[in-house]
Amino acid sequence: MSNRRSFLKKSAALGLGAFGADSLFNALHAQSFSEAEKLWNPASQDNEAYWSVIQDAYTASRSEVIILNNGGVSPSPVSVQVALEKYNLQAAQGPSYYMWRIMDKGREPLRKHLAALAGADPDEIAINRNATEALNTVIFGLPLQKGDEVIGTMQDYPNMIQAWKQRQLREGVVYKQLSFDFPVESEEQIVKAFENAITPKTKIIHVTHIINWVGQIMPVRKICDMAHKRGIEVVVDGAHSFAVLDYKIPDLNCDYFGTSLHKFLSAPVGSGMMWIKKDKIPKIWPLLCNSVPNSGDIRKFETLGTRSFPIEQAIGEAVNFQEAIGNKRKQERLHFLKKYWAEKAAKIPGVKIHTSLKPEFSCAIAGFSVDGLKPSEVDSQLFQKHNIHTVGIVWENISCVRVTPHVYTKLEHLDKLVGAIEQIAKRV
Ligand SMILES: Cc1ncc(COP(=O)(O)O)c(C=O)c1O
Repeated sequence: MSNRRSFLKKSAALGLGAFGADSLFNALHAQSFSEAEKLWNPASQDNEAYWSVIQDAYTASRSEVIILNNGGVSPSPVSVQVALEKYNLQAAQGPSYYMWRIMDKGREPLRKHLAALAGADPDEIAINRNATEALNTVIFGLPLQKGDEVIGTMQDYPNMIQAWKQRQLREGVVYKQLSFDFPVESEEQIVKAFENAITPKTKIIHVTHIINWVGQIMPVRKICDMAHKRGIEVVVDGAHSFAVLDYKIPDLNCDYFGTSLHKFLSAPVGSGMMWIKKDKIPKIWPLLCNSVPNSGDIRKFETLGTRSFPIEQAIGEAVNFQEAIGNKRKQERLHFLKKYWAEKAAKIPGVKIHTSLKPEFSCAIAGFSVDGLKPSEVDSQLFQKHNIHTVGIVWENISCVRVTPHVYTKLEHLDKLVGAIEQIAKRV
């Protein structure tokens, strides 16, 4: 029996998570997933029969538009959609009672569930609304002095760059940005670039685990190990790596981590998560203030005011769905889908791929360009003539069209993408 099959069986027997009697996953997907599991052949490269069951679990696989910008925000599988609807209908009966007295009780079990997925202690997990909120909380919460230095890159996400720049403007924190010419196929080169920028005043390194513009995987563990030897802390932006790469947050050896959950985890739009190493929690000031700002309780970061508890509670079904596929299998599939279209596109005259296709350096996201055309022109032709939704990227030294498949993406959709790129490159 495969490990996965025995996991499913064991989970079912214990009534845990995805297969718990009261989970919507159990009601809506468990049967088809169990059938799909029987189709899985670990020795085979072709498990399309298995993946077709996963695709069917997403209504987005039948969308009129082929969606290939899942890096921006992802759709949810049916169980998450139904959960959100169910909680919304319940809240509509009287939010002050159903949200604050009933759904509120679901937060601690959800924290444990997310912590299990992240391989973390639940007391290190705060639930919030997106990666911007999580990382801005860390950036503005760090007790830095005038003259303290922070190293980031020009290719980090704008919301975090702006946060660091605001600290520079208001408080005189010195924010330095490296610049990389991606793709880079040397982890050492990246680590060295950070190391060379360190001075005795460096306190923080900010690193984006997967660069959103082109999908480059950054060697976070090696950067953290190097930084810690020098007493420097590391903030990790995991918006594009969480529920994509098969890792546990503590394995990264970072100090602070933030992610959205509405990207690859497929949780409802407006869900995010922050992780802070336990002994660092007391010194981080909450962005949205709490009565005990220096507390070591991670919950001090959840004084977010009135917000949607239905969105928060439906995260649980997204975790169920993720667990049922498994992190490793999902990472391998996303890498396969990226390679599937990108290797074919690379052979088209006039087409350039902007991302390393090696599994160590990219997973779901890759970028391409067509000679003589701006990314926005390629993006609009893909949409207007071929009904394919991607995103044109022009940022610092990067100019490409970003393509992000998800587990629900069908190979025939990627074939259409490649055909469309061919026509655009040939100007037909
Ligand atoms: C690398 C990275 N970090 C953070 C974010 C912000 O995510 P959110 O808009 O969910 O806060 C994004 C969004 O695309 C991103 O690409």
